[in-house]
Amino acid sequence: MNTQNSGKKMFEPTTIVIFGITGDLAKRKLIPALWRLFVKGYLPDEFSIIGFARREWSDDELRVYVKDIIAGSGSDTSEGLADFLARITSVSGDFGAEESYRVLSRAIESIDERLGVCASKLFHLAVPPDLYEGIFERLHASGLSDMCAGLGGWTRVLVEKPFGSDWYTAQELDRKLGTLFKEEQIFRVDHYMGKESIQNILAFRFSNALLEHLWDARYIERVHIRLWETLGMEGRGSFYDKVGALRDVGQNHILQMLSFIAMEDPQVFEAEAIRDARAKVLGALRPIGKDDIAQSVRRGQYRGFTQEPSVAPDSKTETYFCIKAHIDNERWKGVPFYLESGKKLGESKVEIEIVFRKKESCLCPPGEELHPQNTLVFRIQPHESIGVCFWAKRPGFEMKLEPRVLSFAYNGDEAAENSPDAYERVIFDCIVGDQTLFASTQEVFGSWKFITPIIEQWDTVPMEQYEPRWIPNSNY
Ligand code: BG6
Repeated sequence: MNTQNSGKKMFEPTTIVIFGITGDLAKRKLIPALWRLFVKGYLPDEFSIIGFARREWSDDELRVYVKDIIAGSGSDTSEGLADFLARITSVSGDFGAEESYRVLSRAIESIDERLGVCASKLFHLAVPPDLYEGIFERLHASGLSDMCAGLGGWTRVLVEKPFGSDWYTAQELDRKLGTLFKEEQIFRVDHYMGKESIQNILAFRFSNALLEHLWDARYIERVHIRLWETLGMEGRGSFYDKVGALRDVGQNHILQMLSFIAMEDPQVFEAEAIRDARAKVLGALRPIGKDDIAQSVRRGQYRGFTQEPSVAPDSKTETYFCIKAHIDNERWKGVPFYLESGKKLGESKVEIEIVFRKKESCLCPPGEELHPQNTLVFRIQPHESIGVCFWAKRPGFEMKLEPRVLSFAYNGDEAAENSPDAYERVIFDCIVGDQTLFASTQEVFGSWKFITPIIEQWDTVPMEQYEPRWIPNSNY
């Protein structure tokens, strides 16, 4: 976030090692993001990319693969592509074999020798989470986690979610990671925090005098956080069947959105203060016990899920959930937060809707049943916007009320069109060493502490079958 003072650090020679360069994440997000950063001049002058994967590819084969992805992403490739591709090399090997790390180490050293410096190293783990522990251990054992010690360059590791599969495994993973790396080396990615529209929640709440005094249980009746997708498995059936919707997006993206909406004012725009404020509110989520589970949680599976490739025919994995959550603090006393997500729904949208309480008295025309309530919607995607629904007089002789939306959008704004996408931000912030938009240990623990009891009671929650393209009604 502190791009103003990050310039110096950004120009340190840097080697980016992508574990799983041939995988889905690298293809859809990382490679296009690295290319766009390069085009915009947001990568160090001396940067190299090593693609580490099981597939036995020569440098040239990997370069062709990367070139096709960039060409297919719709980016302008008229300038710089040859230079970008020339910085990419391939290392093939098994992530679990010591020998692979010797090969990787040699590849990294040969870049350092060519540059004549010990370049900073960024290890991006774009692999299934069950491989993390083994990779961390081997990175450490081979000395790769500490390559430039005392020589000026840094070593950082970018870890994708899900971080663990419940509260216990997350703690175990964190403990292991803590013995191998220092906290300032670890960047736990939740790409939702890299979205401009999520960061705008901070600006909207804490840089304006208008709303903050209405931001509590006295004025807010309920909050809905919706992450609806029309997409189904897209070739990720095997991963998703093991993980399910709640671990895939609930424990992370949805709870991070909640943390931005519900956190206290961090007072200063500094990583530590912002992460602490987020962690505090996540830690205040009330665990859902067995007396509340039936009224507080719904889960569903779309019809046809069990016929998806690589999904078990008798799978009990949820593709939809809706949770009524509460935050145990003064500000949010009694306010339900409805957290909802699903695959193959009738609409793709991510939004946060704040529903304000009814006014105690209403200047409603006589005989009107209406008792106006206001809503504020942060639309994250598509089409980022913020809209406030007001009640206004319908033009005409009669005194009738109708809802009207006062809205803000970046439509056509050049800066917005060129703004970094979430993964550009993730990679850039890691290179400049800014942890603001990465999850801290306490945030990860807080969110798992809330999610784990639900997962443990999943079997007691009836599985609702829903038709693809269903539009849920998330009002309980
Ligand atoms: C990922 C999940 O983390 O987020 C996917 O694994 C989901 O299942 C995706 O589709 C949603 O992210 P975005 O940025 O496309 O809204």
